[in-house]
Amino acid sequence: MARRQPIIAGNWKMFKTAGQAAEFTRGLVADLKGREFSCEILVAPPFTSIPVVVSCATGSPIGVSGQNLHWEDEGAFTGEVSGAMLRESGCSYVIIGHSERRQFFGETDSSVNKKILAAFRNDLVPIFCLGETLDEREAGITFQILRGQLATGLGAISIEDPKRFVIAYEPVWAIGTGRTATPEQAQEVHAFLRDELARLRGHEVAGAVRILYGGSVKPDNVARLMECEDIDGGLVGGASLQVSDFVGIIAQGCPA
Ligand code: PGA
Repeated sequence: MARRQPIIAGNWKMFKTAGQAAEFTRGLVADLKGREFSCEILVAPPFTSIPVVVSCATGSPIGVSGQNLHWEDEGAFTGEVSGAMLRESGCSYVIIGHSERRQFFGETDSSVNKKILAAFRNDLVPIFCLGETLDEREAGITFQILRGQLATGLGAISIEDPKRFVIAYEPVWAIGTGRTATPEQAQEVHAFLRDELARLRGHEVAGAVRILYGGSVKPDNVARLMECEDIDGGLVGGASLQVSDFVGIIAQGCPA
């Protein structure tokens, strides 16, 4: 099977005003010009910065992702944003179930499930995040937790086009802590997730779905992670906020 095309995605979280986002995107476009790399590149700005990023990235290889969406297409849901709104603003991807949403905003496996459906309905590629906490890892229940998150998040949803379904394994203990999973730890989990996906949706689907690693990905650790067979890219937080770091990750992780 041809190698899956990797994705390097920058998750800006609640960083960058529209002005800062425009400056970053112009810098990134300029820095990427003339470079060759083998990955898809995405940035996930806060909602208010999406239009300016889309506009500055037009004609470049940079795609845009939302960081969240509501599971309904419209309605009386103050403070929420729909899939159609993201799509019309120029997003092609949407992050769903990030651990910060699970930890601080009541996201559950069942809301994740409804949001994946909403993404598909609105022609957005979901980046379905899952991962265990430090307590869960230390209690030896990592695989059990991940199996539950994957099965409930997926529910009865069928994956029509596996190239348009992305999973991000983000061990909670590695996010923003500088404590990256070792390539061996990450590969072990990625292989497990691919096996679980094969059990749930068949080998063909499992073989084509991209599984990204997230958690303190940096220019100097990305290459070893990317050498692992089942790691198909990175979901990058802190190191996606500076053009030089983000380009370093693309260059080190995904040379042409
Ligand atoms: P980090 O964040 O790279 O800052 O650890 C990753 C993420 O939360 O997606």
